[in-house]
Amino acid sequence: MTTASDTDRWTVLRLIRWSTEYLEGKGVEQARLDAEHLLAHALDVGRLQLYLQYDRPLVPEELDRFRPLLRRRARREPLQHVIGRAAFRDLELKADARALVPRPETELLVQLVLDWSRGRGALSAADVGTGTGCIALALASEGPFERVWGIDISADALALARENAAVHDPDQRVVWREARGLAGLDGATVDVVVSNPPYVARDEADGLAPEVRDFEPDTALYAGEDGREVIHELVREAPGALEAGGLLALEVGLGQAASIRDTLHAHGAWENATVHEDYTGRERFVTATRRHE
Ligand SMILES: C[S@@+](CC[C@H](N)C(=O)[O-])C[C@H]1O[C@@H](n2cnc3c(N)ncnc32)[C@H](O)[C@@H]1O
Repeated sequence: MTTASDTDRWTVLRLIRWSTEYLEGKGVEQARLDAEHLLAHALDVGRLQLYLQYDRPLVPEELDRFRPLLRRRARREPLQHVIGRAAFRDLELKADARALVPRPETELLVQLVLDWSRGRGALSAADVGTGTGCIALALASEGPFERVWGIDISADALALARENAAVHDPDQRVVWREARGLAGLDGATVDVVVSNPPYVARDEADGLAPEVRDFEPDTALYAGEDGREVIHELVREAPGALEAGGLLALEVGLGQAASIRDTLHAHGAWENATVHEDYTGRERFVTATRRHE
């Protein structure tokens, strides 16, 4: 991919094929898709536009823009860090090393909250561990939420969330707070507490993909010895932050849902504790409502 004579012969399709093989060799899972995203980013076109230009030869400047992107992805940096953005529901969010890259399953957590919210009038919510701000911003733009608190313990994550809010929250419905858990509410009560908290146990680090283990912030991943520290804190503290009948909606790690539902059952403040599955049938969400006194 480097010699001058070669350069003459690089077309869009040939480069996609070569890069796909190269990324596959580095253990990248969706190598073809990622190669296309990287090239589209380097050429500043939409990915699908590449399909109309397969035979177009690439000029040296285009190859120069593409090469460093491919190198970063080959080192297993997340695609979204390399191209600087991530899709989440209707939003295109800025993404970088300051916060967790939003995941498709978290879009379902938002859907659970929106489904519950339907027909309830104007509501308020707290998104604990907001990261890029994806959940808070999606609720503010799609749901009947007049006020959303986006809370994070990480100043870096909040800085990124604020940058995303500048684009996606024109009415400034989300207020951003640097705090641990629900302390960020300053004593206010809300109708919904939603969280995709850190839930990985420290000794599970070796099992994580390099994209996650080596590039995402530790504060976004790990939560105590068994990964449940932040979740248990929310189960204890959310009753004091929720209106009676209010919703707690949590994304949890694989294998954690049933035990967290049981913890909610055992705690007198909760009712309707329910486990929900993700797109692939895995138990990934737990919801409950605050019991009326
Ligand atoms: C798994 S990431 C989720 C980010 C985002 N909500 C999402 O779904 O993509 C967890 C976030 O929680 C934050 N966090 C960790 N412990 C926290 C705590 N005790 N209180 C508030 N935020 C916390 C981390 O900084 C990180 O941004």
